[in-house]
Amino acid sequence: MNNFVWHSPCKIFFGAYTQADIAAECSQYGKKVLIVYGSERIKSNGLFDNVAKQFVTAGIEYLQLGGVLPNPRLSTVHEGVAICKKEKVDFILAIGGGSVIDTAKAIAVGAKYSGDVWDFYMNKGKITETLPIGCILTLAATGSECNGNSVISNWDSKMKRAVGTPLLLPKFSILDPALTATVPRDHTVYGMVDIMAHVFEQYFSPTKSTYLVDRMSEAVMKTVVAIGPKLLTKLDDYGYRAEILWSGTQALNLSLSCGKDTDFASHDIEHEVSAIYDIPHGGGLAIIFPNWMKYVYKTDINKFYNFAVNVWCIDPKGKSDDTVALEGIEATRAFFTSLGAPSTLAHYKIGGDKIDEMAEKCTMFGPVGGFKKLEKQDVAAILKMCL
Ligand code: NZQ
Ligand code: ZN
Repeated sequence: MNNFVWHSPCKIFFGAYTQADIAAECSQYGKKVLIVYGSERIKSNGLFDNVAKQFVTAGIEYLQLGGVLPNPRLSTVHEGVAICKKEKVDFILAIGGGSVIDTAKAIAVGAKYSGDVWDFYMNKGKITETLPIGCILTLAATGSECNGNSVISNWDSKMKRAVGTPLLLPKFSILDPALTATVPRDHTVYGMVDIMAHVFEQYFSPTKSTYLVDRMSEAVMKTVVAIGPKLLTKLDDYGYRAEILWSGTQALNLSLSCGKDTDFASHDIEHEVSAIYDIPHGGGLAIIFPNWMKYVYKTDINKFYNFAVNVWCIDPKGKSDDTVALEGIEATRAFFTSLGAPSTLAHYKIGGDKIDEMAEKCTMFGPVGGFKKLEKQDVAAILKMCL
């Protein structure tokens, strides 16, 4: 196990109507708030009004920036930064899924920076100051509500890139399972795939002696495997939504990477696909991850053997380690397919013509991945397996 620092001061309010005291939380950080959101959905369902009324009563002035799209755009971030600078905003409240939260985080960085916030996404410079942010989460998937990551797409350069800093950890996040009950079936599936993928990225680690964290990871995966199919039979079930919501936060609040090196190559590859083809993140991961697993499993068969036996309950009796490992990978693919997730890039009408470009961009700062380091030709080979 590696040395690590564990410090996660994001206050979580979990449960029904937990947005009821949001003004009290926000007022700790100032008197002027920018509310960031996506579609008009949160206006038609009353959530925006509920928050706005609380702000008025508490004497908090609010401004708003709607229109955040999935695979959120840098152009929206620029709009938000301009508002924050002009209006001297104290605090940013994100209401939505990962795209909205990541946009709010990028605005929080840009508001305190004199250059273009994209610099940080291109590894130019270190983030030293941000505005504080808070979240009302409406979709279980990314874990952005309780981590310091932000992923933004630049449509001019066709690049989707991430930053990560403890400075971007939300001050608080409101997780009301009822607010996720309206997420449509496809995004519910993509969210669950993303949750599983986040655990994979940390579970398949080159670090030895990580027994406890590995068992914690398996618990999150087994929860999604057990509850996911039930949730799809009853999308508005509060209990199932609650289990998946908390799984999403646990999957990427970085507790599952304590003491470990992580991988994240499949995420890097998926971001290149989304950057060009604008596909849903979870849809891309459902295609890429089983192929990544097949490509790398021989690096540590024992890890894949444990994955097969502990998560998928594969009976190893009379089978070689290699066979058990491969059965675990096949079970992963079959699970994603059973949820209705895609298994090939052809599903999104994506051919092989841009594989070279994606592999090149993916490795532009060096090899990706920690479980197995992948060079450009490895990334290209995995993408070919996805066609
Ligand atoms: O505009 P709205 O109405 O919010 O619509 C969204 C959007 O169309 C909709 N939605 C959200 N909550 C809903 C709802 N529809 C009905 N009822 C609700 N309660 O769902 C659609 C997808 O939303 P989005 O925020 O894009 O999904 P998700 O949360 O999966 O976020 C994906 C983005 O996060 C990035 C991804 O790359 C992608 O850009 N990631 C961020 C990470 C992080 N910050 O830690 C890690 C992840 O690995 C990921 O890369
Ligand atoms: Zn993800």
